[in-house]
Amino acid sequence: MLDKTDLYYFSPTGGTRKVAEILSQGLSEEVHSVDLGVRGEGVEAPESGTVVVAAPVFGGRIPAIAAERLRQLEGNGKKTVTVVVYGTRAYEDALLELNDIMREKGFQVVASAALIARHSIVPEVGKGRPDGQDREEILSFAKKVLERSQEGTDSPVDVPGDRPYKAGMNMPVTPLSLPSCVQCGKCASVCPVGAIRSENGAVVTDPEGCMLCMACVAACPEHARILPPPVQEQMDQKLGALRSVRRENVFFL
Ligand SMILES: Cc1cc2nc3c(=O)[nH]c(=O)nc-3n(C[C@H](O)[C@H](O)[C@H](O)COP(=O)(O)O)c2cc1C
Repeated sequence: MLDKTDLYYFSPTGGTRKVAEILSQGLSEEVHSVDLGVRGEGVEAPESGTVVVAAPVFGGRIPAIAAERLRQLEGNGKKTVTVVVYGTRAYEDALLELNDIMREKGFQVVASAALIARHSIVPEVGKGRPDGQDREEILSFAKKVLERSQEGTDSPVDVPGDRPYKAGMNMPVTPLSLPSCVQCGKCASVCPVGAIRSENGAVVTDPEGCMLCMACVAACPEHARILPPPVQEQMDQKLGALRSVRRENVFFL
């Protein structure tokens, strides 16, 4: 076990965080976590020699805001284990994109994984993931990463994906607030890009800024924040067939 790792995660609805914490706890006694979804000044520099980075897959890419915040880090040769977390459909160019960013910033990518969590738009897809089996697989991957590191046999990892990456997602739609909204402001406070504000007693969402990450929907204590019903129905239909699919985690080292 390592003494300490730094974990950088972007996790609007908690799935990425859950998976990344299992991995980080398998690698080290102590985990210093940095939430890339928190708006603020800069991103803290890593404190340890090994960094775990985890981002969800949005439309086969990593969310632009996660990429932007990761670009504020300087690797100076530190080892990193990269993870993308996806909702059973596909991860396409996301892991390649994440690895490219980390290498560009001077990190040495020693291992990577594409792991499964519940789909944050259609939660019946990947329901219950990560589960006990995922946990075992992730911990056994952590063990192999540690063994490689101790033997000094880590080598650059190769992951699937294409350059140029597929075009970023562009869905001109935002979640909406139902009349049961009590204007508590929770949605605005959790929005990673500050796209939600209160105006004349109503919640207003900026369609340019919103990336449909679902953080506000997941955080609303009144369950008053939803996707517009026709959009939800469309997504349910598009992804419905994946409800019965158990997609495997994939590990690269
Ligand atoms: C806007 C958006 C786009 C998504 N695109 C994909 C995708 O391309 N492939 C996929 O398998 N899952 C996709 N998902 C599902 C998420 O990758 C998955 O649920 C992930 O665990 C969410 O992370 P979080 O729980 O940390 O928010 C998407 C989810 C959202 C909200």
